[in-house]
Amino acid sequence: MALVPETVTRFAKSGVAVALQRGAGESAAFPDAAYAAAGATFADDAVALASSADVVVCVGRPSDALVHALRRGSVVVGFLNPLGDPQYVAQLAGTGLTAIAMEMIPRITRAQSMDALSSQSNIAGYKAVLLAAAHLPKFFPMLTTAAGTIAPAKVLVLGAGVAGLQAIATARRLGGVVSGYDVRAVVKEQVQSLGATFLEFDLGSDAEGTGGYAKELTAEQQERQRAWMVEQIGANDVVITTALVPGRKAPVLISEAAVAAMKPGSVIVDLAAEAGGNCALTQPDAIVTTANGVSIIGTTNLPSTMPADASRLYSRNVYALLSPWIKDGVLTIDPNDEVAKGAVVARDGGVLIGGNP
Ligand code: NAI
Repeated sequence: MALVPETVTRFAKSGVAVALQRGAGESAAFPDAAYAAAGATFADDAVALASSADVVVCVGRPSDALVHALRRGSVVVGFLNPLGDPQYVAQLAGTGLTAIAMEMIPRITRAQSMDALSSQSNIAGYKAVLLAAAHLPKFFPMLTTAAGTIAPAKVLVLGAGVAGLQAIATARRLGGVVSGYDVRAVVKEQVQSLGATFLEFDLGSDAEGTGGYAKELTAEQQERQRAWMVEQIGANDVVITTALVPGRKAPVLISEAAVAAMKPGSVIVDLAAEAGGNCALTQPDAIVTTANGVSIIGTTNLPSTMPADASRLYSRNVYALLSPWIKDGVLTIDPNDEVAKGAVVARDGGVLIGGNP
C-alpha cells in the first residue's frame, strides 16, 4: 500500500483528503476500518476516484485506465522505472500529468527520509537471507550438540549497497560465517563493521560512480571478475547477489562455471532477477535447480512478501516527499527544489529525466 492509515492521519492534519479503493489494504494487514478511523473515504474502484484526484500515490505504475481518467496537471507518484522505460514516461507526459518517480529521488542528506529505494532494498536484503535459510539443507549457526558439532553455513553477499549490507547483517544474526564483495572500495569498512570479511579484487580502477552508485564495468573487467568469482563461490553454501547499476542490465557475476563449482544443496538468491539477474542461470520468479543440486532463487519484488512493513516504510517515504510541498491542503511542487529536479520526470507535457527536457 502506498499509504497506510498512520500516514492518512498525517495527511488529514495537513488538510488533505485521502480516498482509496475498498479493501485495497487488506492483504497488507491494513483493513478498511483502520483507514476509516484515519479519516479516509472509499470507492469500489480506484478509477472512479480518478477524476476528483489531484494526486495519485501508487507503489508501482497506475493502470492505464486510471491514467486516462485523471485530469491534466494531476500528479502521479510511484516507482515508474523512467531509466529502464523512458517510453512510458513519454506516454505519461503526453497525457499532461506530472509524474514523480520515487527511484529518481536524489541521494542527498535531506532526502534520506524519502528514499524508497533504500527502505525497500532493506526489506529485500533481509528476506533474501530468510529465503536462503529456508531452502538450505543445513543450519546457519554452528551447533555443538550431543550428536556432534555442525559447521556454520558460509554465506557470500555480492554487492554491498543497502540490500547487501542488510543481508550481511541478517546472515550474521542467524549465525552464518559471512563475507561480502562490492566494486566500490568505500564499502569495505561497512562490510567489516558488520562482522563480515571483505573480499578484495583489483579491477584496476574504482567503480564508484555518481550519487553513491556503481559505474558499469568494462567488458574486460567483467570477464576478469567472473573468472575470479568461480574461485570464490565454491567455498560457500549460500550466495546472495544484489549488484545493480542504475538504468542498466544487472552485471552477470556468477557464470555457469561458478554455479558448477558449488556443492550440492547450495543456494543462490538473486535479488537482481528483475534486472536480468547476477547469475547466468537465474529465471525471474522461479527457483531453478541445477544438475549438481544448486538452487537459484529468482523471486522478484521481495518487499511485497513483507507487505505491512514495506507499506509502512514506503508510505513514510511518500509523506516525507510530499508534505513539504503541501500548504492548506494544496500541493504545489517547487520546480527549483533539488528533490523535484531529480524526481519529477514529466511535467506540462514534457519529459524531464534528470531535470533535463
Ligand atoms: P544499487 O542497488 O544500485 O546496487 C547495489 C550494489 O551493487 C552497490 O553497492 C553497487 O556498488 C554494487 N555493484 C554494482 N555492480 C557491481 C559489480 N559488478 N560487482 C559487485 N558489486 C556491484 O545500490 P544501493 O544499494 O541502492 O546504494 C548504493 C550506495 O548508495 C549505498 O551503499 C550508499 O553508499 C549510497 N546511498 C546513499 C544514500 C544517501 O546518502 N541518502 C541512501 C542510500 C544509499
